[in-house]
Amino acid sequence: MMAAFLLLIAGWSVAATNDEDGSRLWLRLDAVNTPSSVTGVKGTAMTELQTYWQGGPVVLKRQKGLPMDGYTITSTGGKTVIAAANDAGLLYGVYHLLRLQQMGQPCTNLSIREVPAYDLRILNHWDNPNGTVERGFAGRSIFLNPDPARMKIYARANASVGINGTVLNNVNAKPEALSTDHLQKAKAIADQLRPYGIRVYLSINFASPIRLGGLKTADPLDAEVIRWWKDKVNEIYKLIPDFGGFLVKANSEGEPGPQDFGRTHADGANMLAGVLRPHKGIVMWRAFVYKPQSSDRANQACEEFMPLDGQFADNVIIQIKNGPVDFQPREPYSPLFTAMQKTPMMVEFQITQEYLGAANHLVFLAPMWREFFSFVKPASLKAMAGVANIGDDTNWCGHHFAQANWYAFGRLAWNPAITSEQIADEWLRQTFTGDERLVNPMKQVMVDSREAAVNYMMPLGLHHIFAGGHHYGPEPWYNPPGVRADWTPPYYHRADSIGLGFDRTTKGTANARQYPDELFRLYNNISTCPENVLTWFHHVPWDYRMKSGRTFWDELCHKYDDGVRQTRHFLAVWDAMKPYVDNRRFDEVQRKLRIQTRDAEWWRDACLLYFQTFSHRPIPQDMEHPVHNLDEMMKFRINITMYENPVCGYNK
Ligand code: GCU
Repeated sequence: MMAAFLLLIAGWSVAATNDEDGSRLWLRLDAVNTPSSVTGVKGTAMTELQTYWQGGPVVLKRQKGLPMDGYTITSTGGKTVIAAANDAGLLYGVYHLLRLQQMGQPCTNLSIREVPAYDLRILNHWDNPNGTVERGFAGRSIFLNPDPARMKIYARANASVGINGTVLNNVNAKPEALSTDHLQKAKAIADQLRPYGIRVYLSINFASPIRLGGLKTADPLDAEVIRWWKDKVNEIYKLIPDFGGFLVKANSEGEPGPQDFGRTHADGANMLAGVLRPHKGIVMWRAFVYKPQSSDRANQACEEFMPLDGQFADNVIIQIKNGPVDFQPREPYSPLFTAMQKTPMMVEFQITQEYLGAANHLVFLAPMWREFFSFVKPASLKAMAGVANIGDDTNWCGHHFAQANWYAFGRLAWNPAITSEQIADEWLRQTFTGDERLVNPMKQVMVDSREAAVNYMMPLGLHHIFAGGHHYGPEPWYNPPGVRADWTPPYYHRADSIGLGFDRTTKGTANARQYPDELFRLYNNISTCPENVLTWFHHVPWDYRMKSGRTFWDELCHKYDDGVRQTRHFLAVWDAMKPYVDNRRFDEVQRKLRIQTRDAEWWRDACLLYFQTFSHRPIPQDMEHPVHNLDEMMKFRINITMYENPVCGYNK
């Protein structure tokens, strides 16, 4: 009896130790040596090699002539040489080698040369001083009480994909982010990240001179205000000598900015750039601006920023979201990217899935970011930022597959030409297994997942038809009295008895005119406009004939249903992965995929039944019909804040 009991315990503990919790991210090599203690970034490179490298001798060599952070790896006769112009380049070279080892790829006869596309590859954390994370779906801020062991994994993960900067706090910045107390905390984090070549940056509140400094104004041209910023910046650099600079959300969604004092974005940005310049700091000034008075939210970044093109100091970069509205499942690129000619620009992607099913849906974002780069030349940008999806959850990102988006962001910031397939392939091999029976089917799931989400959420150019507040599920009818029109879905979908969609042609808000001529002509004409952005640019009649031969209404129905079927297929593919994945991660991903599948049905049913009240057309016979009732879905609420991941979706 006792023996049987012991056996049971032993059996259980074997299974348990095989389980993984995702806390190691894609860095799952086990240590093979205990490293000697060395310091600095080169020291980190040596330590990583000593700890994890199982091959022959490796020489790390500083070599002039290579661009900063770039490296070469050459191996001959059993010896490998990693050469780089700076220590960070050596570290990136080491991670490249370790990646090859971990993926089981050849690590001999190498002849590799890598140079990053951008000098600045930056995560933006939307973390608040109280530990909440805006649009964070993976727990609380990792910076609130930083755990040194976790910070080390965070730093290694970033450096392993070339991320070299991190903004520690929310763009909706509290003035106290610059208090001496908070700066001490930032210093402690900077000290932990520095050996991995990562600099810290802070978001600032433009009214800090008033709200923190007690001044009467925050006018950027006021001498006392400038003096306040100078002193503050000096204080920061005393604590953090390699501090990167400021990220600023100004005159946007109620945040203060230079316009409150009759000044322009350029006045505000240049003043900050002036005080940061002696320290080699930079200003990342966001172009995410829109006001309810304007006829089209999508027009406003160009309207506000084009008159200022060429007026910004050279250490200012305008940080622009990839689309003109707000991180939607699909948007055309923001026309500001091709309109501005004389101003350094950087793109801001959203890694956290605010509009893509939070930490419940498997949506691999590399295809979306690659789509952006098919319109905006990577070389026209100076840098790349990504809104982080990281929190204190054991697996960091809430969903095991959400880790792939953090990974993909880093890889694309290094090289925007890497394909989504390659990134998915690398990530799967490192995070799960090199077994092709998992890698091949799951790679396909990942690559298809973004289009599936577009299909079940908002196909054919639909956008912003989310639930108010938390943005999780569908609520195309959301329009409570007193709420700003541009914060309600009807502003975006404009459903009526004639059709669906926002007329952004020259007959409507003329947003299409903000694009270069060739694209303008394409978008402005309903018969040439790509169907995947059709209702973005046109109010499309319900009976409009689509390329498939179906009416627009029938096509819309089919797209939603395609999304549901794709999601079911993803779940079925994952179910067959059980033999290749540890139990814990298998179960956790399966649970999430079940939520996603139910949510896809919820999206399809809510949107189609609601739009049907305008179209008055039947659901086509050759597809699955809605299984939920509109009146029940309209009453359904998920009671969460914008700092939480819903435990599940529609659960009626
Ligand atoms: C979105 C998001 C906000 C965020 C804002 C921004 O509107 O919902 O939470 O603050 O973007 O990027 O500034």
